[in-house]
Amino acid sequence: MSTDRRDFLKQMGIGGGALLFAGSAVSAMQPQDAGKPAGAASQGMVMKDKHTLPPLPFEYNALEPVIDEQTMRLHHDKHHAGYVKGLNNAEKQLMVARGSGDYSLIKHWERELAFHGSGHILHSVFWKNLMPNDGAKPEGKLAEAIGVSFGSFDQFRAQFIAATKAVEGSGWGILAYQPMFNALYIYQAEKHQNLTQWGAIPLMVIDVWEHAYYLKYQNRRAEFVEKVFDIINWKNVGAEYEKFIS
Ligand SMILES: [Fe+2]
Repeated sequence: MSTDRRDFLKQMGIGGGALLFAGSAVSAMQPQDAGKPAGAASQGMVMKDKHTLPPLPFEYNALEPVIDEQTMRLHHDKHHAGYVKGLNNAEKQLMVARGSGDYSLIKHWERELAFHGSGHILHSVFWKNLMPNDGAKPEGKLAEAIGVSFGSFDQFRAQFIAATKAVEGSGWGILAYQPMFNALYIYQAEKHQNLTQWGAIPLMVIDVWEHAYYLKYQNRRAEFVEKVFDIINWKNVGAEYEKFIS
C-alpha cells in the first residue's frame, strides 16, 4: 500500500491502526471460534467503534450564503454522523454473525455496510471539496486530465451539472478517478452506493439528497447544484487526484 493511500485511509478513520475490538476481546476471539454458536466466541465481547466522524474543515457558517449554517449543522452533525454510526453498527453485527454462525440477516447487514460505508466516504470527500474559491478552476495535472477525459473544463462542468441535477431521488454527482482505465469519469450515484464502477475513487462530489439543500432551496435543486459548483475547492481536488496517479 502506498504512503498516499495509507494517508487517505487514515483520514477516513480506517487506517491500519484502528482497533475494532478491545484487547481482551481480540485475544478471546480465535480462528477456531469462527462459526461456533453465540456464546463461546462472542460472550463478553466489547467492540470499539472503528470509524469516527471527521470534523468539518471550516466553520459551520463558512459557506454562507450558498450553504446556510443550519443546514451545515444538521448535515454534518446529524446526517453524516448517522452514516458513521450505521457503518460501525453494520461491522459489529457482521462480527457477531461470524461469531455465532447465524447468517439469517446477512443480506440486511451487507446492504447496511454498503449504504452507510458509502455515505461516510462521500460526505468525508464533500466537506473537503468546499470552500469559497473566487471563481478558481482546476489547475495542473487535474486540469490536463479533465481536458483529456471531457474535452474541456466547460464541457466537464456542463456534464457534471446535468448529471447531478438529474439524479433520480437521493444521490450524488461524482467526479472520480478510475485507475483501471486511468481516466476521469462523472457518475450519477443513487443513494450512496448505486450506479458506479468498482475501484473508482471519488475526487469531487456534490450531495443532492434533500437534507443537503431543502431548508434553504426547497425544491430548487438545480439552483443549489449550480451555486455549490462555484464553491468547489479545486486545489484540494487536484491534490487528491495527484495522490492517486503516481
Ligand atoms: Fe448528505
